[in-house]
Amino acid sequence: MRVLFATSEAAPLIKTGGLADVSAALPAALHGMGVDVRVLLPGYPQVLKALPSLQTAADFPALPGFPHVRLLFGILPDGVPLWVVECPELYLRGGGPYQDEHGVDWMDNAQRFGLLSKIAAVLGSADSPLEWKPDVVHCSDWQTALAPAYLHFAPGAAPCVMTVHNLAFQGVFPPQTAAELGLPAECFQPEGAEYYGELSFMKAGLYYADHITTVSPSYAEEIQTDVLGFGMQGLLAHRREVLSGILNGIDTEEWNPAADPNLVQAYDAANIRGKSANKRELQRRMGLHVDPDVPLFGMVSRFTHQKGLDLVLEIAPQLVALPAQLVLLGSGDAGMQRTVLELSHRYSGQVGAYVGFDEGLSHLIEAGADIFLMPSRFEPCGLNQMYSQRYGTPPVVHATGGLIDTVVDCSAASLKRGEATGFVFDSMDATGLLEAVRRAVVAYRNKKTWRALQRNGMNKDFGWDKSAAAYRDIYLGLMRR
Ligand code: ADP
Ligand code: GLC
Repeated sequence: MRVLFATSEAAPLIKTGGLADVSAALPAALHGMGVDVRVLLPGYPQVLKALPSLQTAADFPALPGFPHVRLLFGILPDGVPLWVVECPELYLRGGGPYQDEHGVDWMDNAQRFGLLSKIAAVLGSADSPLEWKPDVVHCSDWQTALAPAYLHFAPGAAPCVMTVHNLAFQGVFPPQTAAELGLPAECFQPEGAEYYGELSFMKAGLYYADHITTVSPSYAEEIQTDVLGFGMQGLLAHRREVLSGILNGIDTEEWNPAADPNLVQAYDAANIRGKSANKRELQRRMGLHVDPDVPLFGMVSRFTHQKGLDLVLEIAPQLVALPAQLVLLGSGDAGMQRTVLELSHRYSGQVGAYVGFDEGLSHLIEAGADIFLMPSRFEPCGLNQMYSQRYGTPPVVHATGGLIDTVVDCSAASLKRGEATGFVFDSMDATGLLEAVRRAVVAYRNKKTWRALQRNGMNKDFGWDKSAAAYRDIYLGLMRR
């Protein structure tokens, strides 16, 4: 079975969030199961630098609407083959994959990700210059969501799967973009890629894909509702027969407290004592009072409305008064970044913050914090709450999306069943969050309860095997059609 896995980010080459983690771990898991999966990525400078020995595989001098493109071929360190779309005009620049250094979206994102989608579709059709032809094209989020549209109008097209990692980002562009990107006029209509007069990459993907998946069963239901459908609820409900919610796994080698080079001491469920050395190191590094007994809350997140950081900032004074400490790592919204830094000055010794992206520090926070905070307003799946359970750091989460599917609220009954792994709250406001935070601190003070929570989470299987098999079954179903 041959699968082309098109994505706009893949760890560790290029990462802004969970999509990168999934785009690395899922292909690796499929590869391990014997699927001939190949990743397709844009030729960002980070990718070309990390993989200096890529070979030219094909040339695309004249794709309508795009500059000259070369396709490069290489093998990722985990053995998964990859194609890189080399187009210096569109991809070779500083900044991030979607935005410049100042957090402003690249002006030519429609063309950048139109091209990525186009190449995926060409490789999945009879027009491909390559011998290797995929049985299925798998796309992720709006950045590759035009591929199903291109495929729909291409000769000899492979079936395609569209995975929604986050419906809040849809890639919407002015109407003339459709023609500029070489989409047929027929495609730009309400029964297609048009969304209120504009071109929506996401809608194109959801409309034309042969199968739609999203990253948790709960989110698959939520996106069919007015509250979390972001305008796509009608289309998704209409297509619910081909919509599946498949829970993300995590890379259990990359995220393993027993062998994590970012920790100062290794530990595991049987010998959890080593965790305390990491707490000490985290407190030291973040300028907090070194105190083994005070409960230490950690949060690693994009700073956006989605993640509920505003609520954390709102309750911070009450949290430190418990007493407790707080460590924050993230970047994003400029106002939030400022407030985070202000708090860390106001409560110096109790609140520590680092604004920026730091992979190593994110691992140390998972290990060194006692309790993890993830009060997301919505969360398609979420990975950090799984990482934190694996690191013996029970999470406090809002009851939404993948958080519901991966965290079991601590109660007398769930403790007795040996299932409790964290604290889940319903009401998305400061009171709801603070109450859950208080519950967590009470549990933390009870050694027996706390050990049970930690052990339950650390022993849980968050690996990719089951989910990768579910994707394989979807591919197989499409191939049989
Ligand atoms: P999302 O993809 O919505 O941002 P996820 O929980 O699925 O949320 O994944 C986020 C990923 O990005 C995790 O691996 C998390 O550790 C990482 N991450 C987010 N912000 C930072 C940061 N500032 N530094 C390091 N890693 C970060
Ligand atoms: C998105 C979602 C997040 C999910 C990740 C990987 O960024 O916001 O919930 O875990 O994709 O699927």
